[in-house]
Amino acid sequence: MSEQKLYPVKANIADNCLLNDQQYLDMYQESITQPDQFWGKHGNELLDWIQPFSKVKNTSYDPGHVSIKWFEDGLLNVSANCIDRHLKDRGDEVAIIWEGDSPEEDSKLTFNELYEKVCKFSNALKEQGVTKGEVVCLYMPMVPEAAVAMLACTRIGAVHSIVFGGFSPEALAGRIIDSNSKYVITADEGVRGGRGVPLKANVDQALENPDCAFVKSVVVLKRTGGEVNWNANRDVWWHEITESQPAECPPEPMNAEDPLFILYTSGSTGKPKGVLHTTGGYLLYATMTFKYVFDYHPGDIYWCTADVGWITGHSYLVYGPLANGATTILFEGVPNYPTSARMSEVCDKHQVTILYTAPTAIRALMAQGDAAVQGTSRSSLRIMGSVGEPINPEAWEWYYRTIGDERCPIVDTWWQTETGGILITPLPGATALKPGSATRPFFGVQPALVDNEGNELEGAAEGNLIIKDSWPGQMRTVYGDHERFEQTYFSTFPGTYTTGDGARRDEDGYFWITGRVDDVLNVSGHRMGTAEIESALVAHPKISEAAVVGVPHEIKGQGIYAYITLMAGEEASAELHKEVKAWVRKEIGPIATPDILHWAEALPKTRSGKIMRRILRKIATNETDSLGDTSTLADPSVVDKLIEEKSNAA
Ligand code: WTA
Repeated sequence: MSEQKLYPVKANIADNCLLNDQQYLDMYQESITQPDQFWGKHGNELLDWIQPFSKVKNTSYDPGHVSIKWFEDGLLNVSANCIDRHLKDRGDEVAIIWEGDSPEEDSKLTFNELYEKVCKFSNALKEQGVTKGEVVCLYMPMVPEAAVAMLACTRIGAVHSIVFGGFSPEALAGRIIDSNSKYVITADEGVRGGRGVPLKANVDQALENPDCAFVKSVVVLKRTGGEVNWNANRDVWWHEITESQPAECPPEPMNAEDPLFILYTSGSTGKPKGVLHTTGGYLLYATMTFKYVFDYHPGDIYWCTADVGWITGHSYLVYGPLANGATTILFEGVPNYPTSARMSEVCDKHQVTILYTAPTAIRALMAQGDAAVQGTSRSSLRIMGSVGEPINPEAWEWYYRTIGDERCPIVDTWWQTETGGILITPLPGATALKPGSATRPFFGVQPALVDNEGNELEGAAEGNLIIKDSWPGQMRTVYGDHERFEQTYFSTFPGTYTTGDGARRDEDGYFWITGRVDDVLNVSGHRMGTAEIESALVAHPKISEAAVVGVPHEIKGQGIYAYITLMAGEEASAELHKEVKAWVRKEIGPIATPDILHWAEALPKTRSGKIMRRILRKIATNETDSLGDTSTLADPSVVDKLIEEKSNAA
């Protein structure tokens, strides 16, 4: 596949697009040279303010004084921007289409209905005691109430902290404790791919942790009617506390820099970080990127397959689309259940015009060949997006040809939990595409490449991807740990934001993301710190040491390869193999389950005791003839032993 091949955007699409190439270039230029003017104008155009802002950008990346503020004296409310302001013109139009796990189940909510649900639930939360600035933990299935709960929090000024429903009770407890969430919202059970997910039981188990004793109430949505244990001092049913509430709840005027939500994400070291996003800048950035990246036109039916538990579910399932007044589809299931044609069938059923999904889903469907499109036309599709990891050109081509019938431009959107919204992406109608490239920066974003010493690289080059200046959607701090924020993102290459990704820029100035340069894995588009998995492994009573590396995986992008050293006297066995995998599932969640376990007598360490991951990576991927210098190892013979043991790894 030649990366030189340009896919000219089809004229019939480009004609109707919001921007052409020249308009993009002009707007980009203005956004960089006159950020206050640019963002001030769009901030006023795209959002409704309760009190207008007089200042736009006030940001500093100075070491020791990193501070990021946008629109700092403006007041607004997120739920009012996502709902109230659309009521006059499009109150009866559909805001949320829900597609259940089972193809037989679906429902629709208009903006009017969403307004009423959000107001009632806002009042219910207030009655439970939730006040402005308090953190509420959401551990929800993919049902409209997940969006209702998010919007209700924003309406009353509470800060939500969503924990992905696939995380274990242990992981949930850690996040409840770190964010000090006195309130938890969940459901009896979730449903995914025909199987139940015991959400309430997981919450019960999480709250057994004595450090969670401060939790005051657990609001439980009845999704399946499955049996649950009940703690009358703590648990309340969603419907019971909501039914008789007034259908009006005035939106709380929030400062643009008031916290909006916390979302935990894995880094290269230690426990997950609580990424904090604030109100004004985040909402503007989500709204504006949604509009231009997906070329949103009124009437579009937009489907993002992400779960609300991830940042994509925040910015491009709920806030971005609803702030634009778009119809957004919330899908409870998985793209290949009950059959691999499900994704295509949902496109036809709801006449989806914009589809946003992940390379891992595309590869899984691609492996099924034509079965993924059997009996469907997908003729409503206009634009398709990709997010979560680099999309390999083969998957890009398949997506373009088989799902999109060569009609739809693909927007390969690069961004992170920390960035709040899309930073590098094509714009339909403006950007000629190259399969596998995220292409060019969005407005206001100044990406650059530096070598490991921090020297900026010019022209066609490959290096560490950094961002030179702030954009409105940027995270503001690590919740409760500003120093960690500065340390993680602003100390490696001082004066810039360090993304943790590597990238290549080609002769046309297009960016090609090459993946993480730190110890963060990307498994099926989910970020996972090797340190997190390792600490789960060594918590097992029979394991003394563990080291985890990523290996290429055909569907997941990366698989998890774990080197494990057992306690003296312990023996590896098929049983222990099963036990260890189940252990990680229990400690973190199914997404962190190692693919391969390698029982190692010892790990390769330097004389100072540091594990040499470079060597472990090479051994895991069978690149043993390029191990590099092993002379600094305390015991170089460990390497041969590891290579020998590899034949038993499974
Ligand atoms: C990777 C997801 C290449 C990248 C929105 C980043 C991508 C990490 C792309 C963030 C893409 C995301 N091309 N790589 N289009 N999108 N990534 O925080 O390594 O879950 O740093 O945010 O995913 O993952 P996160």
